[in-house]
Amino acid sequence: MDEFVTLIYDGKEIQLPMVTGSEGEKAIDISRLRAETGFITLDPGYANTGSCLSGITFMDGEKGILRYRGIPVEQLATKSSFKETAYLLINGRLPNRDELTRFSVMLNDNSLVHTDLKGFYQNFPRASHPMGILSSMVNALKSFYPELDTLEEEINITMTRLLAKVRTMAAMSYKISRGHEIVLPRPELTYCENFLNMMFDTPVTPYEIKREVVNALRVFWILHADHEQNCSTSSVRMVGSARVNLYAAISSGIAALWGPLHGGANQAVIEMLTKIQEEGGDCAKIVQRAKDRNDPFRLMGFGHRVYKTYDPRAKIMKKMCDELLESMQITDPLLDTARELEEIALKDPYFIDHHLYPNIDFYSGIVLRAIGIPTNMFTVMFALGRLPGWIAQWKESTDDPKWKISRPRQIYTGNQEYDYVPLHAR
Ligand code: CMC
Repeated sequence: MDEFVTLIYDGKEIQLPMVTGSEGEKAIDISRLRAETGFITLDPGYANTGSCLSGITFMDGEKGILRYRGIPVEQLATKSSFKETAYLLINGRLPNRDELTRFSVMLNDNSLVHTDLKGFYQNFPRASHPMGILSSMVNALKSFYPELDTLEEEINITMTRLLAKVRTMAAMSYKISRGHEIVLPRPELTYCENFLNMMFDTPVTPYEIKREVVNALRVFWILHADHEQNCSTSSVRMVGSARVNLYAAISSGIAALWGPLHGGANQAVIEMLTKIQEEGGDCAKIVQRAKDRNDPFRLMGFGHRVYKTYDPRAKIMKKMCDELLESMQITDPLLDTARELEEIALKDPYFIDHHLYPNIDFYSGIVLRAIGIPTNMFTVMFALGRLPGWIAQWKESTDDPKWKISRPRQIYTGNQEYDYVPLHAR
């Protein structure tokens, strides 16, 4: 039965339809509000605005739930491969054996990149951030791979190319930044093994693929694979809504992810922990600073727009971090600082009252350090993990029969009309 809410304004009653999601989430459909009342809604940061109907990822911020296509992320992190999770997100269901093999073959077939791309990399200034490079290079891919015959072919091949090539391009940028020979992908390696090998293999020291390192990367990427309508995903959808090509839409997602309040937080956490150590290790002082309203500083790796009890990804990441460091027999002093900081913050009334808990980025940097990823590549690692989610969300939005170009409105607060004054009279 259709449900409505009634808006009463100025003696008039307006019926607005209610929408209920498959997990009971409720929304008021205000799409006719302006036509019927002249009003728009105002919601800075879209904190209470649903921009779409989506069947990809379910999050419950109060209960700390995250599911991809209905499957709890905890199960995927334990049992699935990153490739299988990517297939699940993009196609809406788990693949059977044949489908997974075909998907693997397609990824392998598309994993090489055009050699001319190498020249592009070499012309970026030395100090360029890898996220800026990645965003530009993904956008440039469109020039290297012109349109295919049918739209369906175009979409399928482009999605596969992105998943296969962006991983190669990320490893390639690292190798070039170090002045090392590029290592090509090898078809006999898994998706995660291949990336590690392309990053760390050298003609002098062949890379030894360690089970625990591959596992850490697998879990890291699965935990990052999608997170419904966050800032970068909304950017992909918004840019994509103009019917731009997929490369350009993903490039916009990479640019949004770069920000320290979003994916850039994993790098910012390590920089914060390092600074605490360099300044004598006083965690209480940094917590005090984060609470100071006159100081813009925030505790990096804490807080989340949706999670208000705990971030389920952070729970898995923290456990995996402990296990990885133990099995690799690594002692990282930053981990001790992170633990102390977490303990102090979690007992602090400000953090309790504001529902601020460690998010996925609090421990992910320590995991990435342990597997040898340089700090300025951390957000690139997040981007590689988020690719399947961005692709799935882009595909869902372009397939939507009710698709509309994204075009929010505003409440104008500037000057009212006044006349132009010529320069000589000002
Ligand atoms: N340290 C100190 N205070 C904080 C923090 C923090 N990390 N996060 C939020 N607050 C305070 C904020 O000052 C505000 O206080 P008040 O209401 O007294 O003015 C209140 O909590 C609400 O903050 P908000 O900025 O309105 O919340 P938001 O939902 O807009 O922001 C956030 C969410 C993640 C941007 C924010 O918590 C933050 O800046 N965290 C640090 C950066 C970070 O770790 N980002 C990674 C997010 S998870 C990875 C991803 O998926 O992107």
